[in-house]
Amino acid sequence: MKGKAELKTAKLPVLNTQLPGPNAKDIIARDSRFISPSYTRSYPLVIKRGRGAMIEDVDGNIFLDFNAGVAVCSTGHSHPRVVEAIKRQVDDFIHISGTDYYYPHLPMLAGKLSELVPGNFEKKTHFGNSGAEAVEGAIKLAIYTTRRQRLIGFFGAFHGRTMGALSLTASKSRQRAGFGRQVLDVTHVPYANCYRCPYNLTRETCGAFETKGPHCARVIEDLLFKTTVPADECAAIIVEPIQGEGGYIVPPASFLQTLRRIADKYGALIIADEVQSGMGRTGRMFASEHFDFVPDIMSLAKGIASGIPLGATVARADIMRWGPGSHASTFGGNPVAIAASLATIELLEENLMGNAARMGEYLMEGLRDLMDKHQIIGDVRGKGLMIGIELVKDRATKEPHPDALLRVEIECFHRGLIIQGAGTSTIRLSPPLLIDQEQCDFAIKTLDEALSVVED
Ligand SMILES: Cc1ncc(COP(=O)(O)O)c(C=O)c1O
Repeated sequence: MKGKAELKTAKLPVLNTQLPGPNAKDIIARDSRFISPSYTRSYPLVIKRGRGAMIEDVDGNIFLDFNAGVAVCSTGHSHPRVVEAIKRQVDDFIHISGTDYYYPHLPMLAGKLSELVPGNFEKKTHFGNSGAEAVEGAIKLAIYTTRRQRLIGFFGAFHGRTMGALSLTASKSRQRAGFGRQVLDVTHVPYANCYRCPYNLTRETCGAFETKGPHCARVIEDLLFKTTVPADECAAIIVEPIQGEGGYIVPPASFLQTLRRIADKYGALIIADEVQSGMGRTGRMFASEHFDFVPDIMSLAKGIASGIPLGATVARADIMRWGPGSHASTFGGNPVAIAASLATIELLEENLMGNAARMGEYLMEGLRDLMDKHQIIGDVRGKGLMIGIELVKDRATKEPHPDALLRVEIECFHRGLIIQGAGTSTIRLSPPLLIDQEQCDFAIKTLDEALSVVED
């Protein structure tokens, strides 16, 4: 019990053993014998329990978690109010299947999401169990509603790994390698990455500040619709309002607004994939709100239920009109997951979303200061607690530095800070939304040390 008590009060890391410790080594050996080798782990963290922003490994080492189980544990690990809600629900009933029966939880959460998701119109929700399923629901709905089959997505996008979602994912070739041709007809175009403009334009020359909108959005109308994607066959444009796995890339608002204008003009739908950027992470409930962007369909998962698997596809009610049996999931909208989600949303609205905005600004300031010291940092960007630090070999050429990324991740791990990479060479910070200034200071100091070692 000593470990548990220590974890409860710890705010910063305490490392007692070499990493990995003896227990961690044992489990990693068993893991490599029994677990699918398709998983990607950068360093040997083996977790026993978590509390708030802290996690304890199987050897009693305590870490500060700036990844939150890949942007999932928004309220921190095992928040007492989320745990209480789960326990209460488990006592009542665990499962009945919303596909075939009714229970109060489904309309309760769907009603709340309908209020929260941008758009001054009625909305309906379909529940699944993961981000990929929330995306599958969105694309099936778009194809069903428009009776069109072509989709437009963006390079760098990550929408999941099921066969439908994989057709949209365009982040790393290894995600597709070996799986043959894709099942959906998707055309990808470059995302609005102003740090490395794919067209070598500047914000001034690309039209981002003009009503016509940036070149990277207009290319859909000016090039795709005139060549490979007949406009009247395009079902939807699917976009992450802030690109996640692709490198935490924040587009200009005019990019998203131009996509909206083009979709409206040609009768296509807009799907916003907010699986990673949603649920308070950016300091607003949804990243779309930063850009006055109103999609027709939104995919949600990750932070929605503090770690209990839940996905949601929220759509305009006049779009979600498919008939019984056209789409459903046995476990989707499980009552335990919904109880966790309702408790999560309450916490986000009470203060965690505000804290994400405040701590995000504080972190960004500290990280931008690090740029003076570390030439290897090419760019620092983000909103709220969705922050990317892009590493480059040379600031002038902006050549990515993937080796440095891996080394920084490992150096941080050995100092007790849990971070992850995104894109080719971006450090991704996606901590639980309850972190405080002291924990931000520790993260900045640790990144500073890790970058110094890597630059040496
Ligand atoms: C934007 C986005 N969409 C979809 C997914 C897929 O989610 P899952 O891994 O829960 O299927 C992810 C996962 O990282 C994501 O970041």
